[in-house]
Amino acid sequence: MAILEVLVSVADDLLMPVPATVVALAGERLAADARFAVQYPAARSERLVRAVERARASGADGAGATVPLQLVCAAESPAVPALGDDEAYTLEISSAGVRLAAAAEWGILRGLATLTQLRSSGAIAPQRIIDQPRFPWRGLMLDVARHFMPLPALLRTLDAMAVFKLNVLHLHLSDDQGFRLPSRSYPRLPSADHYRADELRQLVNHAADRGIRVVPELDVPGHTACWLQAYPQWGSGAAQPSRRFGVHQECLDPTRPEVLQALEILFDELAELFPDAYVHVGGDEVHPAWWSADPAIGDYLRRHGLADSAALQAHFISRLAQLLDDRGKRALGWDEVLHAAVPATVTVQSWRGATARDRALAAGHDCVVSAPYYLDLFFPVDVHYAFDPEAPEAESLALEDQLLADARFAHVAEGMRWTHQWRRADPSPRAGRVPPGRLLGAEACLWSELVDARVLDVRLWSRMPALAERFWSPADGREQEDVYRRLMAVLTHLPEWAGVDVAGDSRRLLTAAGVTEPWWPLLAMLEPVKWYGRLLGERALAARLEGSEMPKARPYDADTPLDRVADALPPESFAARELAGLARAEARGDARARARLRALADDWRRLPPRGAGPAELEPAAARLSRLGDLVLGVLDGSLHADAARAELAAAARPMGEYLLAPVPVLAAWLEQRDGTAAADAEAPRGR
Ligand code: ACM
Repeated sequence: MAILEVLVSVADDLLMPVPATVVALAGERLAADARFAVQYPAARSERLVRAVERARASGADGAGATVPLQLVCAAESPAVPALGDDEAYTLEISSAGVRLAAAAEWGILRGLATLTQLRSSGAIAPQRIIDQPRFPWRGLMLDVARHFMPLPALLRTLDAMAVFKLNVLHLHLSDDQGFRLPSRSYPRLPSADHYRADELRQLVNHAADRGIRVVPELDVPGHTACWLQAYPQWGSGAAQPSRRFGVHQECLDPTRPEVLQALEILFDELAELFPDAYVHVGGDEVHPAWWSADPAIGDYLRRHGLADSAALQAHFISRLAQLLDDRGKRALGWDEVLHAAVPATVTVQSWRGATARDRALAAGHDCVVSAPYYLDLFFPVDVHYAFDPEAPEAESLALEDQLLADARFAHVAEGMRWTHQWRRADPSPRAGRVPPGRLLGAEACLWSELVDARVLDVRLWSRMPALAERFWSPADGREQEDVYRRLMAVLTHLPEWAGVDVAGDSRRLLTAAGVTEPWWPLLAMLEPVKWYGRLLGERALAARLEGSEMPKARPYDADTPLDRVADALPPESFAARELAGLARAEARGDARARARLRALADDWRRLPPRGAGPAELEPAAARLSRLGDLVLGVLDGSLHADAARAELAAAARPMGEYLLAPVPVLAAWLEQRDGTAAADAEAPRGR
């Protein structure tokens, strides 16, 4: 795309994530075609040799004069990485060669990732990079339950994670619609699509070769409809086969000894496949209906002095934590596991707004922050990037509030308030009486109701590199423009680095969805609706925004093909972001920007093109065409700003699952033009 090319041409520093420290050195650049002669003056392992081969294959090596690449690794590392490993490295580059030094193999891997990125911009300026991660836990959660992701998709994901120095792949292996783990002991559990044991071993090895941990999740006691179809005796109601999304009533009955027994056996089977110290036990969105309706469970609560369903859930999670502890493992759970009765050894993954993190830490739990990093919400990069995992709670809450007033989210803002219900949740009775937990880091989450292996790369990597920077680099985040510039740059190189081609895949998928060339001016400006707008559908979304009863029917279930334009579009229009820059320049009086804006508006006016395209795009095409008229009317002075504003307000409404990304951009442009006009009116005469 032309937009990408322009941005890349000015990118001389391509690094994402940015390193902690970069010191410029005197001297000549390292030649763009330098060929590396690799030396291992200290430890040399097969893992390092393989990493060097990958770096060569990713374009880190040239065909010119040979220079040394010294890999000074103080000591070999264990077979698999663990939380808190030393990932620091020092990379010194001069025209005479490269020296990469680290205490452990993990640091050498991270330094090679940096070197590979640097090599993509040609000759490298002499410099010393001294780098280490800000957080020891820098993760990505993939939901392989709602849609199964075959092994090659996961291996490719690990390759790209390594490029951006991510170090935890959290696999959500089971949910209502699917169970993806093999099981010798419970053969009715695995869905038709599930991983074989040898595939999971390959995955774990592939990850370890890249310094990445794999953390498995079995989500219990809720999200278990498919468990209960296989083994109805583990619940207290009739489990229906389910392909729908949303919270289900189906729930394991934690009072039955056979449920604990099954989990104990499943934990043993998990431990054979996943060497990591952590096991995620879910714990989210437990519907209380089954437990409340079952007299036997009521009796159990009375006998064990448990006050309510929340206490029963805490009792259950505590027992799972003990089972894992017996196996030398640690439990991790979604923030619903926060309860005074749950031991502080359970790590909490916060997901419901900015409050849970501090409640967990104050009660002594370690915490991984995910609430601002849900990649299934179709949010733009700048929104995720603005949230710092360590920001004071008040700052994160203020950012959440700011989103509600952001024109890009006007169509879902009321729904986005849902996290406010947890803002005043009571602190744990342990708060202040126990040492606070550690903030381990952060994890982006890609829930896969609307993601399958075909659309995975577009959905994930269009934004994930910037989050990887949030999790690795020093806290003083970069300017938005700088983040986007480097994101565009790394995305153009990701095909050679990791076989991930966001723009190419999106184009291929759009073509397969019936989009032809003349529709591109529209596609470049189109975005899917935000938040859970697509999942809920127009009727349920409207009901939720009004606070009325939600219709049960949803537009998607686990069998709905994800082959439409909405599935193939990147969540954010980078062209609309480019347009924002153009519009700002125009408002400042830049004549070239005005000419380009006029040309763009002319393109829009030619929409919809003659010839067939997807019928669902026609309303958006007609609306963008009218925006072309609007822009020209404003530029010519024939359309008053108030009339333009009214038209934009109407144009902001979603069309089915689509939004026109230029609408808020143009609204801001009108404000900027007003501001410029007002400033001109106030300026002293004679200027
Ligand atoms: C979750 O998003 N239900 C953890």
